[in-house]
Amino acid sequence: MTDITISRREMRLAETVARQLINAMIRRKLTPAFSDFLVTHLAGVTMLLAVLDTAKLGDHSPYTNPDLLHQLSTDLGGMPVYLSNHSGIRIVVLLSPLPKLPRKVNLPVDAPRGRLAVGVRFTGQPVLLDWEFFLHMAILGNTGSGKSIFLQSLVSQAIRDDMQLLLSDIDQTTFGMLENHPNLAAPIATSPQAALGLIEQALAECDRRAELFKNLPERPQKLSEYNALAVKAHMEPLSRMLVVLDEASTVITALGGAKGAMGQALATLGWRGRKFGVHFIFAAQEFTKDIVGPVRDQVGLTLCFRVRNGQMAERMGCKGADRIPENRPGLAISDRHGPIQTYFVEHSDLGQRQSLLPSLNQLERSLFTCALVEGGRLSRARVMELGTLTEWQARKYLEAWSLRGWVAKDAKADNAFTITPKMQVLLSNHPTAPTTSSQLQPSPTV
Ligand SMILES: Nc1ncnc2c1ncn2[C@@H]1O[C@H](COP(=O)(O)OP(=O)(O)O)[C@@H](O)[C@H]1O
Ligand SMILES: [Mg+2]
Repeated sequence: MTDITISRREMRLAETVARQLINAMIRRKLTPAFSDFLVTHLAGVTMLLAVLDTAKLGDHSPYTNPDLLHQLSTDLGGMPVYLSNHSGIRIVVLLSPLPKLPRKVNLPVDAPRGRLAVGVRFTGQPVLLDWEFFLHMAILGNTGSGKSIFLQSLVSQAIRDDMQLLLSDIDQTTFGMLENHPNLAAPIATSPQAALGLIEQALAECDRRAELFKNLPERPQKLSEYNALAVKAHMEPLSRMLVVLDEASTVITALGGAKGAMGQALATLGWRGRKFGVHFIFAAQEFTKDIVGPVRDQVGLTLCFRVRNGQMAERMGCKGADRIPENRPGLAISDRHGPIQTYFVEHSDLGQRQSLLPSLNQLERSLFTCALVEGGRLSRARVMELGTLTEWQARKYLEAWSLRGWVAKDAKADNAFTITPKMQVLLSNHPTAPTTSSQLQPSPTV
């Protein structure tokens, strides 16, 4: 129980709370089998960890029941109570108020590629997701709660990573600025029927990819495995595909509900898409009980902005989202990470096509420009030389570029790499691409 950042007042509070916890358990006819009480301080928050001795509990379920946490919180005069069951069972009581989340955080310009930056947690840490891990996402929130801005931030990152997009925007308030964007695999859907067409197109893409996967003797099980094998076999890697349905409940309901054409197609895409790198995100103001079933099973992350219906938020694993104040758009409760202030993106930035192109860093821009001037070839030695890189760094870069389809190994040319037409398009569209090799300024870090 020692930590210099914990005040005496907090220690006294911890002792009182520990006694109250024991009494509350006894009143509820539960065994107060606490083996230890620890006070810790993490990211500006002091908390009491009440460790239960699981060997003495018998049936664990009454101790991990969310209702119990709610009751304990009431018994403690409303102090927040959580459960931590990573190892054993710990009841966590927050002794100091949660530090306030900032009201607005811009999407960082250096958000890592290939992952999805969602926002910041109350600890100040960013929430970064791997596509392969979370697969699909559900987003809930009233009008004005921040759904559209959030979808825009996700889509801008998907474009940066050169994903293909299938977008549905019935209200035409979210994706208008992306009309005719080169990453769109189909026009933006503005009717339920057209939205269904997008899902069918995504399913057809799964079928196409299934064939490609089958042709590889190693039988890859996910997109990253396929792409690694494809590059080795001098084949083009596949990019991820992202399907976004804004106003999803409206669309699903218009087409017969969960059992209707759209509900069924989405459920199929849910399990089929995971292997082939086809992901979907659906956003709605609410999910009725019948829609929630299939939705809940398919998604790896649920995010509730301010909602009217507390029970619905709870069903989605985002308890408390009904208590988010109206003047806090962008603040959400997630089922995995608790409260998150999601990243903000400027509407006008999205309108500018250039800012949405997959990003090249300074080193890459210079390197590729230089290599094009020299005839489009790029050997590892030349990458090392141009970028002042170690052999290992150069190899890592070349691997990453191959996976993105920016360079391809040329079997005819002593396995040197050639710059693909895709990269040439990217370079010519890039607003600040230097045009002569004298401008080459290698960045010191990789
Ligand atoms: N992440 C955010 N941070 C700060 N303000 C936000 C954020 N998201 C939305 N807002 C504000 O709230 C308004 C409504 O957001 P919007 O995304 O259009 O809501 P919805 O799509 O849920 O109706 C925006 O115009 C913006 O001013
Ligand atoms: Mg909206």
